[in-house]
Amino acid sequence: MAEKQTDDAFVEFERVQKSYDGETLVVKDLNLSVPRGEFLTMLGPSGSGKTTCLMMLAGFETATHGDIRLGGTSINNIPPHKRGIGMVFQNYALFPHMTIAENLSFPLEVRKIGKADREKKVKRALEMVEMGDFGGRRPAQLSGGQQQRVALARALVFEPELVLMDEPLGALDKQLREKMQFEITDLAHNLGITTVYVTHDQTEALTMSDRVAVFDDGRIQQIAPPDALYEEPENSFVAQFIGENNTMLGTIKEIKDSVALVELDGGAVIDAKPINVSDVGARTRVSIRPERVEVDKNRLQPGAHTIKAEVLEFIYMGDIFRTRLRVGDNDDFIVKTRNAPDQRRMQPGEQIEIGWLPEDCRALDA
Ligand SMILES: Nc1ncnc2c1ncn2[C@@H]1O[C@H](COP(=O)(O)OP(=O)(O)OP(=O)(O)O)[C@@H](O)[C@H]1O
Ligand SMILES: [Mg+2]
Repeated sequence: MAEKQTDDAFVEFERVQKSYDGETLVVKDLNLSVPRGEFLTMLGPSGSGKTTCLMMLAGFETATHGDIRLGGTSINNIPPHKRGIGMVFQNYALFPHMTIAENLSFPLEVRKIGKADREKKVKRALEMVEMGDFGGRRPAQLSGGQQQRVALARALVFEPELVLMDEPLGALDKQLREKMQFEITDLAHNLGITTVYVTHDQTEALTMSDRVAVFDDGRIQQIAPPDALYEEPENSFVAQFIGENNTMLGTIKEIKDSVALVELDGGAVIDAKPINVSDVGARTRVSIRPERVEVDKNRLQPGAHTIKAEVLEFIYMGDIFRTRLRVGDNDDFIVKTRNAPDQRRMQPGEQIEIGWLPEDCRALDA
């Protein structure tokens, strides 16, 4: 999806293409504009072109076509070290022969900052990531998570306007990862840093970002704030890549007043919201989130559409119940219900009727 260029764009990709071998494009006609101070995440499957985009922005790869601008100035001919960009990569290579403090001091020396100033900045950066007591150690004397925090401090120590991070938390355990997610976004927002962050972990993307760009096959499939991405996916790829989703195949029978009539392959005819389908007779994949399905007839909202279902499996998960149903020809239809005092546990074999609001059911490309 093309993103409109705005005046306050800080990072801009305009019609950028990249090919490594002169034949296949791994980045295809990419338009992106990131305003100052935004935390933008590139999310997508392996090989979709995320790192390539970051490398072009950093200056380690050149675009085959198109223009990349930073603060309105084309950076195609500016070498990496002159772009003023802080970077944290998955293999956060700290210099092993230097102490932590020397590691942090290095980018300042390169920028010809005086000794007294360097010491002050290094101290502050280490305190920021709660590593103030570790300046005298060498990287090998730190845990993985501590090294990761030092790498973060090193990327921020020269107060860059832009920080690029490529899967910086990939090597950490879940608990530390969650703590660092919070620390990184907090730091970025407090320091007013523009961040381009790469991950293939969708929870990480949703919880950390102002906006998420979903990549697939060298293109941005959708770029939106987390809630819009989750609730209003614009195509089947995004609907299935972000969060859990129930989908059913069918054929468009009619489109009228922003409502699509869909005949499901299982036989039922339902209403759905037409998103990226246009023609009568076209195949469509309708998509509905598990938590938007009501299984209690008495709680159906006015206007809800109902359909028959058979209970196949009941899974107790503590705070919620996950129930697997057969709906039409989909026998992997999931509903989630809260473990509330009045919530019934459904039994396999039960025939029930479920419902949802037509606007929660999106007719997407098949
Ligand atoms: N230096 C290179 N030379 C040739 N092809 C490359 C090079 N780097 C990446 N590619 C190819 O470009 C495509 C995009 O790779 P890229 O590293 O940008 O993907 P990614 O989205 O970062 O994936 P991952 O999530 O696995 O890190 C892939 O098909 C990859 O094989
Ligand atoms: Mg990558």
